[in-house]
Amino acid sequence: MIKIIRARDYDDMSRKAANIISAQVILKPDCVLGLATGTTPIGTYEQLIDWYKKGDIDFSEVRSYNLDEYRGLSHDDPQSYHFFMNDKFFDHININPANVHVPDGANDDADAACAEYDKMVEEAGFCDLQLLGIGRNGHIGFNEPDDVFSKGTHCVDLTQSTIEANSRLFEHEEDVPRQAYTMGVQTIMNARMILVVANGENKAQAVHDMCFGPVTPSCPASILQLHPNVVVVADEEALSLCKDC
Ligand code: PGA
Repeated sequence: MIKIIRARDYDDMSRKAANIISAQVILKPDCVLGLATGTTPIGTYEQLIDWYKKGDIDFSEVRSYNLDEYRGLSHDDPQSYHFFMNDKFFDHININPANVHVPDGANDDADAACAEYDKMVEEAGFCDLQLLGIGRNGHIGFNEPDDVFSKGTHCVDLTQSTIEANSRLFEHEEDVPRQAYTMGVQTIMNARMILVVANGENKAQAVHDMCFGPVTPSCPASILQLHPNVVVVADEEALSLCKDC
């Protein structure tokens, strides 16, 4: 079931999403958070950092598992998702670095890197709350439109649309890695609660198809319609094609 929460704008979306994550951490201090990179969640992380600095949230027992990582980039590469998470979130809160997990992009043995990550997520009991952004093509994590829904962590070839979208963070488009390790759709669906954040008009079609389109791997996010506890927090622009909700 998908519950849609309308936000006025990006800041409102970020505060609402941060409130939901904060409630999870307060209710279960040693919870497992599934976290996401991308531009959309940055404001959510900033809000959580602010509340941490004010003494309102304690992350000392939280365990985190990120969705994905570029294949070939090590955790200290400034373009890696691990570096992004440290820079935007982990370096500013009191999470224990030993409790932070991101797929190992430096391990070129894709099968080993993915199997190891799946084992860790499973041993942690899967995520209590999984935060997700959504791609313009409906991807979640790096699960791109496909003929089938993926299961566990796996290595993917990025689509041209994702390479173009992500090239804004690189100097040249050729610098964007062509492959990534990503949690699979089934692993994401194993989370007990899923929180999707979306803003801007360029997400409107994907948000509509996620919530109201057919459930199909050609829009990977549409599978969330089959999950019992999904909350979408989106601004007016991202909800502009969802008129009646
Ligand atoms: P964005 O990416 O937040 O940078 O738009 C979201 C995604 O591709 O999952």
